[in-house]
Amino acid sequence: MKIIRANSYQDMSRKAANLISAQVIMKPNCVLGLATGSTPEGIYKQLIDWYNKGDLDFDRVTTINLDEYVGLDHSNEQSYWYFMQKHFFRHINIRPENVYVPDGTNPDAERACRAYDYIIQRCGGIDLQLLGIGVDGHIGFNEPGAAFELGTHKVRLQESTIQANKRFFAHEDEVPKEAYTMGIKTIMQAHKVLLCASGTAKAAIIREALYGPVTPQVPASILQMHPDLTVVVDHEAGACLPEDMD
Ligand code: F6R
Repeated sequence: MKIIRANSYQDMSRKAANLISAQVIMKPNCVLGLATGSTPEGIYKQLIDWYNKGDLDFDRVTTINLDEYVGLDHSNEQSYWYFMQKHFFRHINIRPENVYVPDGTNPDAERACRAYDYIIQRCGGIDLQLLGIGVDGHIGFNEPGAAFELGTHKVRLQESTIQANKRFFAHEDEVPKEAYTMGIKTIMQAHKVLLCASGTAKAAIIREALYGPVTPQVPASILQMHPDLTVVVDHEAGACLPEDMD
């Protein structure tokens, strides 16, 4: 595990974007596993900036997102599909056919999730998986108690996640209660994992996830077992980590 400290959200974003850039430059046809939420917004902004400067080319890149709310279609501004278009895809030269997000409109969970696992397999697996972390330790929408050995599956969101995500919706009642998420097994199969965290609210869980016991109660704790994990934290999120990490 490599922990990189950044001194601000912007610095965290730039450092993480650098690692993603390196992946794209080293393997132009790579498969990137991507996340939504507040954490990666700055990373996508930085990547767009470098793309506009001619430093990055996404023409042969494939992206596979972690998760999607059940019931929201592409036109819904709260869907993760929409988020990705708005914050990243529509600003770069990625091919629409190389972009994958779980199909939240498919009511047949079994079929939707198997189809997603098949896509990941057909793409040859994920080269680099970008992750944020929930205050309860969730990664993707794998909530505390999630089995480590699952592929893509349907989850019921925890109350804490609904509370954390309601800021994106007009009213709390509009936050979907279910989502399709890549499972921890799939995340752990990515060749590289890049976990990013920003802000005081993440400080305690980052420490617990990286230095506490490996337990399904803290889904991100399994990342301690990943052979190629890089963590980028800003000053606040890294506040509870031991000093001598390098
Ligand atoms: C989003 C995702 C979630 C978020 C997590 C942190 O695709 O998979 O696990 O990474 O909820 O969200 P933010 O970054 O908004 O604090």
